[in-house]
Amino acid sequence: MKTKILMVCLGNICRSPLAEGILASKLDPTKFMVDSAGTAGYHVGELADRRSIATAKQYGIDITYQRSRKFVRSDFQTFEYIFAMDQSNYNNILSLAKTAEDRSKVHLMLNQISPNSNAEVPDPYYGGDQGFENVFQMLDEACSIFAAKLSKS
Ligand code: 4NP
Repeated sequence: MKTKILMVCLGNICRSPLAEGILASKLDPTKFMVDSAGTAGYHVGELADRRSIATAKQYGIDITYQRSRKFVRSDFQTFEYIFAMDQSNYNNILSLAKTAEDRSKVHLMLNQISPNSNAEVPDPYYGGDQGFENVFQMLDEACSIFAAKLSKS
């Protein structure tokens, strides 16, 4: 059975599609499955934001296969790890958790870099292209650390 990891943001068009693409690029696809979702359904069925697609492409990562979907309660059964991009996503996911096991699967993405700091991946949607590059760099660092842990376990 593959280990399954879910990346979650608000719209599932900017941050979590990048997180999905970056983490997947660092893991063996025969052993791991990476997906992403949004806590809101504003963009369901859409491609990732063109700025996320362009930023990923600059680093050799194709995320054009992705389509936005909403986080659903059954994701707690499907996935072993659920990473929230910010505190609001984290709280929204936890509000759907039913059991202590569900809750134990939810983590803040940037705590991989600085445990317990509760730092957030800023929402780049209303900003310029530099915001997407900034998000890419923080996600790349967090995903490298997490991928190294997974590959050891
Ligand atoms: P994301 O960014 O949560 O990183 O995908 C957003 C995308 C769209 C909206 C908000 C955040 N929106 O309000 O439509």
